[in-house]
Amino acid sequence: MKVLVIGGAGYIGSHVVKALLSAGHAVTVFDNLSSGQLGNLFPGAGFIAGDIRHPDDINGAFAKGFDACVHLAAFKAVGESMSEPEKYSVNNITGTLNILNAMSANGCKNIVFSSSAATFGQPEYVPMDEKHPTNPESYYGFTKLEIERFLKWYDVIRGIKFAALRYFNAAGYDPSGEITGLERNPQNLLPIIMEVAAGWRKELQIFGQDYDTRDGTCIRDYVHVSDLAVAHVKALEYISSRKESLTVNLGSETGVSVTEMVEAARKITGKEIPAKYVGRRPGDASALYATSALAKEKIEWNPRYSDVDTLISSTWAVYKNAKAPKV
Ligand code: WQD
Repeated sequence: MKVLVIGGAGYIGSHVVKALLSAGHAVTVFDNLSSGQLGNLFPGAGFIAGDIRHPDDINGAFAKGFDACVHLAAFKAVGESMSEPEKYSVNNITGTLNILNAMSANGCKNIVFSSSAATFGQPEYVPMDEKHPTNPESYYGFTKLEIERFLKWYDVIRGIKFAALRYFNAAGYDPSGEITGLERNPQNLLPIIMEVAAGWRKELQIFGQDYDTRDGTCIRDYVHVSDLAVAHVKALEYISSRKESLTVNLGSETGVSVTEMVEAARKITGKEIPAKYVGRRPGDASALYATSALAKEKIEWNPRYSDVDTLISSTWAVYKNAKAPKV
């Protein structure tokens, strides 16, 4: 298939491009390089510079004729979405509507959308399945849920089939070492641990040690980005061949605590990784993890790299040879 990967120069996008190319698809990346990087462009993929906020840009891209798109272009900082919601409205929501309208106008019938576990909000039970109530705690999570609702209507009215992939905590790097772009000013746990291990940050702050969990720190479901990438390929093949849309959770089904992650990182890197306990971060749930039974059943997705050791070692392989990115 001819696939347009919107946001394909980003961290997850570059891994998705690699997986699509390996499966024999023809890939073009569309990216405004606001957080994505040219260095992340995977060899063999075409490139269109453009912005989803500009209908002419995205219409021009779809006019070249694509069978499908993968849409990963979004702002994703939960905290920022609560102080600057307008940015998230325009980029995430209006940008996606521009994509859907361009797909309608140009006859593109398949979209794989990077949704998020942030659509669920505080867990009412774990492991979380797709039927778990959706009450996002942040404006970011709201934008992802709202987009899922638009996707349903464009399916009903325009016959555009979608796969909404609700990622849990994406982490790790291409185990074969072909993708090495670092995020500037990362906000997530594993890259922060790596920056401390590399000596670019003084210490890790652990948010809360009084949660009702086995060691008092929060439990999350970390899923390897190369496993996520494969899920995009399988989801695309599913929706396009069956003409049936799909909403699935993508997690490793294993809860890992912050302390467990830090201790494993100390062993693997051989670095001290200074850490201090600080207060809870507002909005953090004590334990969040998925059941991915539906993804297993529908798209035969079985994560291969989402164990803690591979998550950390594949990430450290990149960080230990890298220079701190300019912020
Ligand atoms: C993981 C754990 C922190 C940093 C976020 C979004 C979610 C999704 C994935 C996009 C938590 C703890 C972290 C630090 C810490 N994004 N932590 N010190 O919050 O689970 O999920 O990313 O869709 O929507 O909310 O991920 O990596 O920020 O935190 O102790 O410096 O690490 O409290 O328990 P989170 P995270």
